[in-house]
Amino acid sequence: MTGIAITVEACGKTFADGTRALSPISFEIGAGESIAILGPSGCGKTTALRIIAGLEGPDPGGRVLFDGADVTPLPIERRNVGMVFQSYALFPNMSVIENVAYGLRVRGVPRQPRLGQAQEVLAMMRLAEFGGRRIDQLSGGQRQRVALARALAVKPRVLLLDEPLTALDAALREDLRAEIDGLLRTLRISSVYVTHDQAEAMVLGDRIIVMERGAIAQIGTPRDIYFRPASRFVASFVGTMNRLEGAIRGGVFETRAGRLPVDRADAAEAVAFFRPEAARLTPADGAPLRFRVARCHFLGAAQRVYLDAGEGAPALIADTDNRRTWQPGQETGLAVSASDLLFL
Ligand SMILES: Nc1ncnc2c1ncn2[C@@H]1O[C@H](COP(=O)(O)OP(=O)(O)O)[C@@H](O)[C@H]1O
Ligand SMILES: [Mg+2]
Repeated sequence: MTGIAITVEACGKTFADGTRALSPISFEIGAGESIAILGPSGCGKTTALRIIAGLEGPDPGGRVLFDGADVTPLPIERRNVGMVFQSYALFPNMSVIENVAYGLRVRGVPRQPRLGQAQEVLAMMRLAEFGGRRIDQLSGGQRQRVALARALAVKPRVLLLDEPLTALDAALREDLRAEIDGLLRTLRISSVYVTHDQAEAMVLGDRIIVMERGAIAQIGTPRDIYFRPASRFVASFVGTMNRLEGAIRGGVFETRAGRLPVDRADAAEAVAFFRPEAARLTPADGAPLRFRVARCHFLGAAQRVYLDAGEGAPALIADTDNRRTWQPGQETGLAVSASDLLFL
């Protein structure tokens, strides 16, 4: 299997009841690329995926191209895409192998080669012994692997996944996430993975499309999105972000807790954003910023310290080494390098 390039061109979507699910959005997916679409519930992820799949048409003016060919008028069965849904959508009255072979049957592949191909895909998904089982005799994780096998059995040109792990418990989710990652890398198929879970998007997306209210907020690699968020929305949706209010005067960011040197032009009011791992706790004496420890969560491998940022302000978070101990009420210094401060 090899992937195809996909172009989504000015695809908007207004539903019959007037709901505007998508403003016209445009992006490209390279052949063999894994794209994650990330955003909160209701932001238009599923609608975008269904337009790529051919389950939904874009508003007039929108186009979907596969390897440069316009597929906008083609229904899903003529686009050769594999699709996996959150709800599995398996056929309960068919055995596992019949489920996996279903797409081949619809395409008119005779019984023997169809079952042979289905068995191969089952083996790839480590389900070789499960072909004869009924769906209700499988665990949630096994069901979702059957759904993946069914999507892959037709050798699709692109694999589309809509929050496939949401119904599973945390440990299983992580296992299956690694399995899907291995699968996408082995098959080198193009894929679009829709999720509201930033960890899934980071692991599975070569690039991530962050969506907000029917529009694209940012497109970039996981590192781009994390280190150079394009907006406050992206900064706070992906990872934990601290926010500190103040004003910049003479190259110094002045806050209620002290002053930080910055490499920014003056601005009467400014909000600085920085990641918990960029916050360094120092002795309070002579520190650029001073806070009191509100509480400390020892997490084993890491330690998260919450700093009291004053009345009404959310606590600042510093991720520190796991050896030192912190007492609530204790005074501490806080240093952040100018290069780790984002003004958005
Ligand atoms: N068939 C539909 N008719 C009307 N509104 C819809 C329909 N499908 C989705 N929507 C609305 O469009 C918006 C985007 O939905 P959706 O694409 O499912 O978001 P997401 O997958 O990000 O949660 C939501 O406001 C949703 O309620
Ligand atoms: Mg959805």
